[in-house]
Amino acid sequence: DSLLIAIDGPSGSGKSSTSRGVAQRLGLAYLDTGSLYRAAAIVFLESGLDAAQTELITELVTTAKIEPGTDPLHPSTTVNGRDVTEAIREPRVSEKVSVVATILPVRQWLNERFRSIIDAQDRRIVVEGRDITTVVAPDADLRVLLVADPAARIARRQAELGGQVDASAVTDQVVRRDRDDATVSQFEQPAEGVELVDSTHMGLDEVIETICAMVPG
Ligand code: CDP
Repeated sequence: DSLLIAIDGPSGSGKSSTSRGVAQRLGLAYLDTGSLYRAAAIVFLESGLDAAQTELITELVTTAKIEPGTDPLHPSTTVNGRDVTEAIREPRVSEKVSVVATILPVRQWLNERFRSIIDAQDRRIVVEGRDITTVVAPDADLRVLLVADPAARIARRQAELGGQVDASAVTDQVVRRDRDDATVSQFEQPAEGVELVDSTHMGLDEVIETICAMVPG
């Protein structure tokens, strides 16, 4: 039977760890759509193109071979056969990802990719991102909007980066990306039929439990 779970949320909401945990617990595949936006940002960064050259960026991104892994235990991403799993987490990528994420034809192309990956997994998959519950898979069996207070999100992102960057830089990143992403996503209000989960005061296991308990059937 198909079991398609869509999880959206802002930076630092715990979306990735939660989605991987849910997929692992339920024996489902896993797709991190943000990793494909990040891979697209690498294609843009390496092209030397200007952010305003949206048509050329679109052409480059849509002809690149961007492949995500779907194993929740071993997330991986390749661009034209090159492993970029680590490179996509670099701050220079986080800084520029909104450039590609705000180009509509790039989004439409990626959305088609996401849908074919979902189908290739027989719709037994957890998909996480910014617009999965609303645009990519509004027909998912379970749709969750994962939120957390900005202070909690900043603290988590900082822990994730292993304290290699200072607090104000992380705050900047989280707050700025909230703003840059505002054009493509809305997190204040879950869409109709979407379950709101606030992880501000919850540990990872608790959030995973909560979402698994929401699975219909
Ligand atoms: O690092 P963080 O969890 O904040 O984000 P991510 O899931 O790795 O996604 C990186 C960026 O990709 C986001 O800031 C968005 O600009 C973009 N994105 C998007 O526009 N739509 C999605 N479904 C997923 C990511």
